[in-house]
Amino acid sequence: MINVYDTPQQLYAAAAWLWIRAVLESEDGLVGVATGATTTPIHQAVALLYAAAPFDTRGIQICAVDDYAGIEPGHIASCSERVRRQLVQPLGLGEEQALLPGRFTGRDAPQHYEAQIAQRGGIRMQMLGLGEDGHIGFNYPGTPMGSGAFLALLPQSTKDTLHRLYGLPMAKMPTHGLTLGIRSILMSRRIVIAVTGARKAAIVREAILGPVNERVPASALQLHRDVAWLLDREAASKL
Ligand code: F6R
Repeated sequence: MINVYDTPQQLYAAAAWLWIRAVLESEDGLVGVATGATTTPIHQAVALLYAAAPFDTRGIQICAVDDYAGIEPGHIASCSERVRRQLVQPLGLGEEQALLPGRFTGRDAPQHYEAQIAQRGGIRMQMLGLGEDGHIGFNYPGTPMGSGAFLALLPQSTKDTLHRLYGLPMAKMPTHGLTLGIRSILMSRRIVIAVTGARKAAIVREAILGPVNERVPASALQLHRDVAWLLDREAASKL
């Protein structure tokens, strides 16, 4: 399904309602989130809606698609920390309601993280953003599509973004990140991917209309039966 919104703001509001509906469903399992410029305003909209008209958060269970390995706990560059600040705290969730990859360390961290997700009933809805090169989570071009959670090597572009946005010195820059793999993402019962801006229009076209291949990791979403693409008019301009 492809939904096109006139403005990014309309997309953020619609995505926030989708997210709230998903967390309030009485189904088993977790609701997966991603961090970044696209999902931050969606989480902000969720927090605003909750502040204006609180809903019952006791049944909410969330997890995150990825996080950088080796960033000190509590640092704002950590994806887990941003999920805490954007959702866990504003919604008053207990620590046990958020399964965050930042807690998992060591070589077996990806397998442990994935096992914990399975133990909690899997992911019933995973929300994603899209990178300009077609990455989802830290599944960059070339990642094998059959992969479960793994420690991904971070490309220079991601390190540059971390440096620019969070002032993380290059000397302390993580080299790897824990991410759910394409196979893990495809095991989610539902996937929602939100994309805005003209810069991503070409990759949106390739992901939706191009062949499914490892050069464009998001093209793997064509293999899933329940994917909602939420696009603003600019991101949809090449479809
Ligand atoms: C981050 C993540 C990434 C982002 C992607 C898009 O947790 O999973 O795949 O979703 O890099 O980021 P923005 O929205 O900043 O363009």
